[in-house]
Amino acid sequence: MYVVGEEEIEALAQVIRSGKLFRYGEGESECDRFERRYAEYLGVDHTALTVSGTYALSAAMIAVGLGPGDEVLIPAHTYMATATAVLTTGAIPVIVDVDESITISPEAIEAAIGPRTKAIVPVHIWGAACDMNAIMEIAERRGLTVIEDACQGVGGGYEGKMFGSIGHIGAFSFNYFKNMTSGEGGGISTSDEELAKRARCAIDPCHFYWTGREDGMKPFAGNGGRASELQGAMLNVQLDRLGGMIAKMRAQKKKIVAATSRLDNLGLKLSPTHSPDHDCSAHVMYLMPTAEQAQTFVKVFPAVIAGKTGRHTYTEWDQVLMGIGAAHPAMNPYNHPDNAECRTEYSKDMCARSLDILNRTVMVPTSPTDTDAETDGIIHNIEMAARVALDGMSADDVELRPTGSFDPQKFDMSTKDETAEAT
Ligand SMILES: Cc1ncc(COP(=O)(O)O)c(C=O)c1O
Repeated sequence: MYVVGEEEIEALAQVIRSGKLFRYGEGESECDRFERRYAEYLGVDHTALTVSGTYALSAAMIAVGLGPGDEVLIPAHTYMATATAVLTTGAIPVIVDVDESITISPEAIEAAIGPRTKAIVPVHIWGAACDMNAIMEIAERRGLTVIEDACQGVGGGYEGKMFGSIGHIGAFSFNYFKNMTSGEGGGISTSDEELAKRARCAIDPCHFYWTGREDGMKPFAGNGGRASELQGAMLNVQLDRLGGMIAKMRAQKKKIVAATSRLDNLGLKLSPTHSPDHDCSAHVMYLMPTAEQAQTFVKVFPAVIAGKTGRHTYTEWDQVLMGIGAAHPAMNPYNHPDNAECRTEYSKDMCARSLDILNRTVMVPTSPTDTDAETDGIIHNIEMAARVALDGMSADDVELRPTGSFDPQKFDMSTKDETAEAT
């Protein structure tokens, strides 16, 4: 989901006209300005831009010091980069179940912790909040680091705190599909100065050449993932839109939830959510009694079945399932002697409970560009699909209403709401 308009074009043109596309140099650059503003927005001390969410996750994991011999708990439902980022550090991802919220299950985390476990990666998938109180309590009690994968949670939060500000370090994506975009892009967030320095070094091994060497920080070799001024300039405009967009999606979701909760008596159950007033509200999710009924629902009213997106469930992560954790066999964490005691066995049915939940979860997307009439259309269509899937109504009797498709041009800048509550 993205909204782009004249303001972004003007901001990009200004950077191009200035001839300064590199982030380092005299004064506050566009990247510096974004990092400062985004840190304020999130309520953390540091953010650092990079080229993608995947690289942000890697940098965050490098920053916390993961490596061979370490296991990292990740959910069975997330984009595969969560798993591959763990492998880039030499550590081993251990896949654990999600619960009905389709986010990582605290009970499954507790059950999966072993002698090698070093970190947990809660993923705010589809903008929905993980059970962060439970996860942080487990992490503290068991001495684990929490890396929040907030790549799909830009602009959302949990109980008044922003995603990416709750764990020890967070990672964001600003790719084309996210709530803020610079085409591609990513960033990390943390209030730990040491982690911030290490993440900056992972993002740009030359960072300290540009900004000055720092006492106590020994730079290490890493790949390059430095952001350009074009990215910083575009994100500075995007950040202004974010509060207004999320506010619209929350209002739309509230309306759909209120109107469809009366269909409970048909068996249409809303999926449990952890912080509905603070999350991104990018989808309204229903947990259908059976996978067949979920299929019928989406045949009547095209929506998304969480387990059928093709790349967000562990059964689709070929590199992981096949044990190809690096391009060169000698660098493959699955062959590394320090990982001999880590759990490296995977199978397609290892998280059967997650698959059952995901194949029953129907997600109806919200959109900041939908009109009230289009929202009413969505509510009507959900009811029709529920009646066919759960109440024996014939699909032939269904008349769908127009729901509007997402259209960035329709976004009204007057809805920009700088006072909108951060979460
Ligand atoms: C949960 C999650 N983690 C990580 C990423 C990786 O982000 P990027 O595509 O910017 O590399 C994504 C991107 O879709 C994601 O959804």
